[in-house]
Amino acid sequence: SSPLRLGIAGLGTVGIGVVKIVQKHAGLLARRSGRPVEITAVSARDRMKNRDADLSAFRWETDPMALATAEDVDVFVELIGGDNGIAKDSIEAALRAGKDVVTANKALLAMHGQELAELAESLGRAIRFEAAVAGGIPVIKTMTESLAGNDITRVMGVMNGTCNYILTRMASAGLPYAAVFEEARQLGYLEADPTLDVGGIDAGHKLAILSSIAFGTRVNFDAVEIEGIERVSIDDINRVADMGYRIKLLGVAQMTPRGLEQRMSPCLVPADSPLGQLMGGTNMVVIEGDSVGQIVLRGAGAGEGPTASAVMSDIVEIARDIRLPVFGQPAAMLTDAVPARTAVP
Ligand code: NAP
Ligand code: HSE
Repeated sequence: SSPLRLGIAGLGTVGIGVVKIVQKHAGLLARRSGRPVEITAVSARDRMKNRDADLSAFRWETDPMALATAEDVDVFVELIGGDNGIAKDSIEAALRAGKDVVTANKALLAMHGQELAELAESLGRAIRFEAAVAGGIPVIKTMTESLAGNDITRVMGVMNGTCNYILTRMASAGLPYAAVFEEARQLGYLEADPTLDVGGIDAGHKLAILSSIAFGTRVNFDAVEIEGIERVSIDDINRVADMGYRIKLLGVAQMTPRGLEQRMSPCLVPADSPLGQLMGGTNMVVIEGDSVGQIVLRGAGAGEGPTASAVMSDIVEIARDIRLPVFGQPAAMLTDAVPARTAVP
């Protein structure tokens, strides 16, 4: 059968990871997809950059818009990033040109997910984004597919690996926030704008996406109450450790009698609990459903291999000709939830 032809926009950590998997697992992907999966063209800004992958077989497009609308591309894989601008413009152009879209862009989905979902669904196209929340952990498909028979009552977890690294390193090495922040920067863990990580915004984006799927509501990032980790001191960490607790940047989304509560803030968790034991850059997502009870998913929330693994799951789904509603049910049926605001401690 005809190959599924990919256009990959963005050849950074995630884009190169996807290229490597497509090259390494061509046979396996063809068997699982029922058709070959091929890359026809790629795009990034700097053609001369050394990218640790053989890109010689692919056409190079400097402009992602050209890739998004190319005739020899079936799936536009957006791995550029940013909550607006070229990422959004090229996704819209791809959908209008009849392409399906795969993205890892949580910021874009948190800010513009509803309008992109409405556009995709009105055109009969797919937007898939397994990699956007918790990297390699299959949380989106777990919620939209495996738990489709449940009324989901609560979603919570640690969804930013950088913050978890900073908090656990402060605790284990007894170092102040500023020193560990600098370490994280040296290790390349921080987003280009570190406020996205340490300000809780990146994790807030992820929580807003999960809330929409869990509660059938329109993504509402503005209603997420956010406090980052910048004010957590080594004294705070030591004081709560003496009482048997650890501090985690914890997201909680739940439907309450007052409305939808979405909160991302530093919280105390028992040191011997699964969340308390979560070390380094690992993520954990806890989902509660009325029939299934509690599901705990844990794994790598970032990095080349884990994130590309999640992107590939979406590509294989599209190769199988499966086009599911973007947020688990048609975008037109998603409702506006009343935000239940709490005072973030
Ligand atoms: P990255 O390493 O910064 O790579 C971004 C790529 O986009 C680069 O190849 C860059 O080109 C290209 N690019 C940027 N602006 C462009 C423009 N105006 N036109 C054309 N190309 C442009 O980013 P990443 O870490 O791979 O992340 C990609 C996406 O995945 C983001 O939405 C991110 O939030 C998401 N994500 C990342 C991770 C992770 O672990 N890294 C995990 C989950 C989700 P040059 O290389 O030429 O500069
Ligand atoms: N900055 C993010 C994190 C990358 O640290 O979790 C993955 O989304």
